[in-house]
Amino acid sequence: MGEYAAYDDAVYDAFDTPDARHRAYRDAIAQAAPGRIVLDIGTGRDALWAIEAAKAGARHVYAIEAHPDFARAAVAAVQKAGLRDQVTVLPGLSTEQTLPVRVEVCVSEIIGNVASAEGMIPVLNDARARLCTPDCTWIPFRAQTWAAAVDLARPVLATEALPYLDAVFAAAGGPFDLRLCLAGPVHELLVSEPALVESLVFDSRRPPPPPSEKVTVDLGNRGTGLLLWTRVAVTSAGREIDTLSGDSRGWAPIYVPASASTVEFARRTSDDLIHPDYEINTLMSPHHGGAFRGTELHRWLFPA
Ligand SMILES: C[S@@+](CC[C@H](N)C(=O)[O-])C[C@H]1O[C@@H](n2cnc3c(N)ncnc32)[C@H](O)[C@@H]1O
Repeated sequence: MGEYAAYDDAVYDAFDTPDARHRAYRDAIAQAAPGRIVLDIGTGRDALWAIEAAKAGARHVYAIEAHPDFARAAVAAVQKAGLRDQVTVLPGLSTEQTLPVRVEVCVSEIIGNVASAEGMIPVLNDARARLCTPDCTWIPFRAQTWAAAVDLARPVLATEALPYLDAVFAAAGGPFDLRLCLAGPVHELLVSEPALVESLVFDSRRPPPPPSEKVTVDLGNRGTGLLLWTRVAVTSAGREIDTLSGDSRGWAPIYVPASASTVEFARRTSDDLIHPDYEINTLMSPHHGGAFRGTELHRWLFPA
């Protein structure tokens, strides 16, 4: 839902659940923030990580939020926490902001269910070039997308997902074959070993992740389709959060109805320059536009 800004209070309540994502961000911020200038890109309704950084003793925190309603709510959250002097909330896109100083810690959580889908590559490459010091600490340190072959009989649409479909279709300019997240004991569906298809690190000692990339991996086995999911290393030393374990409410694995034992995963910049289009083998998965009911699975889930 992130790449369509289909956020509501229920989604933000989920972000504020003390799960593995929450614990890892809190620990990373407690370690990195004291005495430093911190940037929180996409601070959200509750300014969670900006408040956490200020409480941990950051010298100052800049918290940017693109969605105007949630930027207003973030201002109120900062005021309620009594941190108005320490946290500056800036409404708008990070790519359109300038800051009076370069920041020493950059916190963000714009990681999609395919890691790059919410636009982290252009947004964080821009922050790295304009807003951060060369030795900036990046939270998260790394976000990856993994793929495996899976066997899945016909799934059903969860009723909880239905209210969000209209928001996603409206943001995309009409119905299209949207990406489908799976719930339940998804790891039991795997019929191959996992393989890495994207690994995104923004630390300035490495080259910036490229907007377009094509990766081919051999899975050694074929199922009814492919599963894509994220692993997030919030710090370089801490335990990774693996979406397959179901321990975080922030992300869910995606089922791709393309049966193959070799995966050709291509990422390209879409016409909005932020949210990539993907091509997985011969299946197109654009951010917006493209076919509606073009796959057998989408025809099953969205009957005429
Ligand atoms: C997944 S939510 C994360 C909220 C909170 N930081 C957390 O981790 O719980 C992502 C937030 O980033 C915002 N966002 C995405 N891209 C942005 C950008 N380039 N500049 C500012 N805000 C952005 C979205 O509007 C959304 O509120």
